[in-house]
Amino acid sequence: MTPLLIIGAGGFGRETAQLVHAINDAEPTWELLGHLDDDPRKHGAVVDGVPVLGGTAEAVRRDDARVVVCIGSPRDYGSRARMVARLGLPPDRYATLVHPSASVSRTSRIGPGSIVLAQTVLTAAVTVGAHVAIMPHVTLTHDDVVGDFATLASGVRLAGGVRVGPGAYVGAGALVRETLTIGSHSLVGMGSVVIRDVPPEQVWAGVPARFIRPAPVHLES
Ligand SMILES: CC(C)(COP(=O)(O)OP(=O)(O)OC[C@H]1O[C@@H](n2cnc3c(N)ncnc32)[C@H](O)[C@@H]1OP(=O)(O)O)[C@@H](O)C(=O)NCCC(=O)NCCS
Repeated sequence: MTPLLIIGAGGFGRETAQLVHAINDAEPTWELLGHLDDDPRKHGAVVDGVPVLGGTAEAVRRDDARVVVCIGSPRDYGSRARMVARLGLPPDRYATLVHPSASVSRTSRIGPGSIVLAQTVLTAAVTVGAHVAIMPHVTLTHDDVVGDFATLASGVRLAGGVRVGPGAYVGAGALVRETLTIGSHSLVGMGSVVIRDVPPEQVWAGVPARFIRPAPVHLES
């Protein structure tokens, strides 16, 4: 059993803890040590049966443990990239966690630190980068490429050959037409139908998706 630390004790971190339990139920793999979170009010708490051990610096000290960074929201979807930069850990310290109910084809690849929640499907030759968050029931089809630090919320469906740029956020239930690009650090609103390329650092939403506003400026800071 390999020791594992989950950075973040919010919704995504708690979902990932349940994913770890599901992996262990299928085959004992991870010794889940607990969550790390920089909110001192959470220290010493137990969330869904898993302890919050302390701040995120503990991930650097516990060099025997593997780590996943499970933070981020539509309001601040750059936080995962900032945390990884701050920790400065080598890629081999990060775990890749895939729910046992996900279907990952032999020709698909998933990078370090990435999380794939339940019932997601990667059909053929899908490339998922590092520290990508893939929520439940996402469908990625042939030749899709998902950049580092991207987030795909629940129920997203990408047609073939779609590229999601680094740090982008695709909202729940969005559909993206084949071969299109979602630009880096852009956000696609929930329920959108994307029928044109979305440029970098913009928020688009609607059916069909249209420009709403520039993306938040603090994504990379
Ligand atoms: C797109 C989004 C970021 C916009 O949020 P916002 O900047 O606070 O914008 P507002 O709610 O003020 O809406 C701005 C305009 O966009 C429209 N709009 C917002 N979200 C929309 C959506 N998903 N689809 C269609 N139109 C949308 C609003 O109706 C409004 O239009 P108007 O100016 O004509 O009245 C947000 O609605 C969204 O979809 N976030 C993703 C949520 C998600 O997927 N969560 C999953 C968590 S796991």
